[in-house]
Amino acid sequence: MIRAEALRKIFYDKKRGEITAVDNLSFECRSGMILGILGLNGAGKTTTLRILATLIKPSSGTAFINGIDILKDSEKAKAQLGFLSGDTGLYRRLTPKEIVRYFGELYGISKQESDKRLAEFSDRLSMGDFLDTKIDKLSTGQRQKVSIARTMLHNPPVLIMDEPTAGLDILASSNIVELIKRAKSQNRSVLFSTHVMHEAQKLCDEILIIHRGKSVKSGTIDELKIETGMDDLDRIFMESVRNAQ
Ligand SMILES: Nc1ncnc2c1ncn2[C@@H]1O[C@H](COP(=O)(O)OP(=O)(O)OP(=O)(O)O)[C@@H](O)[C@H]1O
Ligand SMILES: [Mg+2]
Repeated sequence: MIRAEALRKIFYDKKRGEITAVDNLSFECRSGMILGILGLNGAGKTTTLRILATLIKPSSGTAFINGIDILKDSEKAKAQLGFLSGDTGLYRRLTPKEIVRYFGELYGISKQESDKRLAEFSDRLSMGDFLDTKIDKLSTGQRQKVSIARTMLHNPPVLIMDEPTAGLDILASSNIVELIKRAKSQNRSVLFSTHVMHEAQKLCDEILIIHRGKSVKSGTIDELKIETGMDDLDRIFMESVRNAQ
């Protein structure tokens, strides 16, 4: 599970000065739960996810990944999670097969087992055509598929995904949705950000809406519906953000 406690991140930018990208965020994503984080461009989603994935340090506050403090024991926390963000971790001169083997090795997975797992992802995400093509030559969506395979390869108990379906066609997107559902059924925690409201509405047990780094609304879809008197997440989101201006 993931527990964030009063996370705050302040960036210092020469031109813009102090930017509070994440402002006192606390939330929980239990095992077997899918939490969706929503917010406009620049709201602080990626920054929050990068903190949880131990890639950057919060300015204050902390978080726990399966009970492990990301500040006190970041390596151990990192071992519990798979993090998906853009094409992070894709070496351009390697092929998908080489990348998956390389990461497999880091996780202590044999070459045979890595190939077997890659074959499963390849089946689900139609990757067969480009397993031996260098990343350099792949399209955005093809790279995203490789990233997903890399992120999920070692079956981490906690999955953190920044816009997992960005750039994917409708078939690949629905396959990702299935992979996320499967992770939930295996009692893993899944935290993901998205701009695709219908995807969040379909998938998430709980939603966290942030604006300028702050939480402006959270709860189950049903709770949000009752609280706002509105039926679809598109409208709930727009209203929450408008009211927070
Ligand atoms: N390294 C950095 N240095 C300075 N400012 C940063 C840095 N990274 C992010 N920011 C700022 O922090 C804020 C939050 O950015 P973040 O990337 O977390 O937003 P986001 O919610 O992921 O947006 P999007 O939907 O566009 O991906 C923005 O104002 C951004 O400009
Ligand atoms: Mg982002």
